[in-house]
Amino acid sequence: MLIRKPTDIRSSEITDERVYLDRRGFMRAAAGIGAAVAAGASLPGLVAGMAPRPRFSDEEELTPYEAVTGYNNFYEFGTGKEDPARNAGQLVTKPWTISVEGMVEKPATYDVDELIFPYTHEERIYRLRCVEGWSMVIPWLGFSLSNWIDRFRPTSQARYVEFTTLYDPDQMPGQRRSVLDWPYVEGLRLDEANHPLTTVVVGVYGRSLPNQNGAPVRLIMPWKYGFKSIKSIVKIRFTDRQPATSWNVAAPNEYGFYANVNPDVDHPRWSQAKERRIGEFRRRETLMFNGYGDQVAHLYQGMDLRRYF
Ligand code: MTE
Repeated sequence: MLIRKPTDIRSSEITDERVYLDRRGFMRAAAGIGAAVAAGASLPGLVAGMAPRPRFSDEEELTPYEAVTGYNNFYEFGTGKEDPARNAGQLVTKPWTISVEGMVEKPATYDVDELIFPYTHEERIYRLRCVEGWSMVIPWLGFSLSNWIDRFRPTSQARYVEFTTLYDPDQMPGQRRSVLDWPYVEGLRLDEANHPLTTVVVGVYGRSLPNQNGAPVRLIMPWKYGFKSIKSIVKIRFTDRQPATSWNVAAPNEYGFYANVNPDVDHPRWSQAKERRIGEFRRRETLMFNGYGDQVAHLYQGMDLRRYF
């Protein structure tokens, strides 16, 4: 568990992937401790209130750092997979503020450091399944979004949360073209946002988040298609209405509000039954809720997931 501020990590200290994978042996041991605690054992010294360790499979190889940071979707920097790595270097991420608005008791504009340094940055290895049919396994660094929601105190009317990415065409050349209705917006139901798997991500592979991956902060909801995982957030708004989301506005019959990974509901132009892990040739079966059904299926009980896709 890394508790250092990610921006304190100098490039000379960056762990190479082989050493990093050895470290995973240690992480697995730590996961064992987590399981013992879940089973009721009392272990003095463990962080109180530690979130249950997110599910990940030991058999799954991590996607190499080069692919995680070199093959991206971040349309603000271009629509090609290599454009973000090429064009995002110029983005100024310090200072950075996030404004919290709408149905909350504590609306304010926060410096991002105020919002990310108070919380323990845990390693969370999640599969990311992109709606386009590829997937990666990525060791993110972050903490549950519920920490922020507790802090901002939504009022009893709030039912949804809307997130907005920076709008600055001078720094984000992709925004000079109307590929999407800028700025990029995304939204979650409040109970989805409060789910412990919904993660505020501040780093990847033990280092601070590269710009192309959404610096300084982005979200990850591992059971949803990747486009829900909005990058470079500048605004969080609590509301009683389902917010508009960029991809739903762009193509409403192709991208729904929920966007839960679902092998049984095809995209109108292609099947979602299989996926290709970046770095592999074979195609794998796509799992319902990207394999996180045990944790999240209850959120959608009784809902027709063909209608609410
Ligand atoms: N956030 C913003 N602001 N702009 C984007 O274009 N692309 C989304 C999501 N978040 C996107 C975004 C899509 S389609 C995916 S698959 C993931 O980011 C990719 O995240 P990664 O590049 O870190 O793998």
